[in-house]
Amino acid sequence: MKKDIKIYIAGHRGMVGSAIWRNLESKGYTNLIGRTSSELDLRNQQAVNDFYQAEKPEVVIDAAARVGGILANNDFPYQFLMENLQIQNNLIDAAHRFDVQKFIFLGSSCIYPRLAPQPLKEEYLLTGPLEPTNEWYAIAKITGVKACEAIRKQFGKDFVSLMPTNLYGTHDNFDLKSSHVLPAMIRKFHEAKIKSDKSPTPEALEGEGVELRRDEPVELWGSGTPMREFLHVDDMADAVVYAFENQLPDNLYNIGTGTDLTIKELAALIQRIVGHTGEIIWDSTKPDGTPRKLMDVSKMTNAGWKAKIGLEEGIRETYKWFLENEENFKEVKIK
Ligand SMILES: NC(=O)c1ccc[n+]([C@@H]2O[C@H](COP(=O)([O-])OP(=O)(O)OC[C@H]3O[C@@H](n4cnc5c(N)ncnc54)[C@H](OP(=O)(O)O)[C@@H]3O)[C@@H](O)[C@H]2O)c1
Repeated sequence: MKKDIKIYIAGHRGMVGSAIWRNLESKGYTNLIGRTSSELDLRNQQAVNDFYQAEKPEVVIDAAARVGGILANNDFPYQFLMENLQIQNNLIDAAHRFDVQKFIFLGSSCIYPRLAPQPLKEEYLLTGPLEPTNEWYAIAKITGVKACEAIRKQFGKDFVSLMPTNLYGTHDNFDLKSSHVLPAMIRKFHEAKIKSDKSPTPEALEGEGVELRRDEPVELWGSGTPMREFLHVDDMADAVVYAFENQLPDNLYNIGTGTDLTIKELAALIQRIVGHTGEIIWDSTKPDGTPRKLMDVSKMTNAGWKAKIGLEEGIRETYKWFLENEENFKEVKIK
């Protein structure tokens, strides 16, 4: 692959897009282009066409989307459906018409049916009802997968879709109103630890013990029983760059680690890494989402790529990044 090939990364400031940018830069690619949403609103078809006409990208990586957790999906179904359709339709159709050589579309594991057998295989797409809490987002993403598949089938172009599992890592969204479960837990445990009064308990003062008060409790959503898989965003970027540098034989690939854990186990791991000593209260009135979501990653493994970053190592690195950026981490604002 020539190092000056022109690569447009849509959503290059986002968690995934910025990781892809860093990865490509580290591999010596010199002709990367990106636009912020205020420079180029991807919902605007004319603006997207003008951009492709002027810049003539040879490769397009679509990491732009309206993303968010259960709460944001539930409160803003129209934006999650319509804005994602607009963004991806404009990017895919312009890529087709302006002869982009390679297009990589990023979706999500929520495209698969809620009760599909586990682990999720690519062939389970459209075999049953979706998880209602994020069906708006999932339907948009399924449409993107099908659009790329149709272009591949009808015109023989190298358009490929990668479906990441839950991602976390550098540049994650720590805004509790719109964040995913893992960064939300990091922030909650951290803030409870910081707020806590670490003076000795009255019982300890009366006696001779030096027992300190425990940290403030942390309230977490749901029952803690659902099982989830988590992939570090640098691994995701590595998979995207692998898909860019190699011609994958099929149109749809799951990207994950192939291993999962319960939300309770995840909470215990993050609590230990953050050093929070208080109680965890599970609010079972809040929705759990899909009972289990584990990717079958054998197709991508057979194509030559697998994840390298372990969960504990990845969370430690993410918490370090959170501490370094605590004052100015990104808050996603719903307009
Ligand atoms: N995060 C996850 O756990 C996860 C899991 C599975 C799949 N994915 C997929 O990975 C992709 C990237 O997700 P992410 O987590 O990196 O999201 P993110 O951090 O929120 O970044 C999204 C990016 O999209 C851009 N964007 C949004 N609306 C736009 C618009 N109207 N016009 C132009 N740009 C717009 C934003 O640009 P500005 O910053 O300039 O506003 C931002 O850079 C998405 O397709 C998502 O579905 C993510």
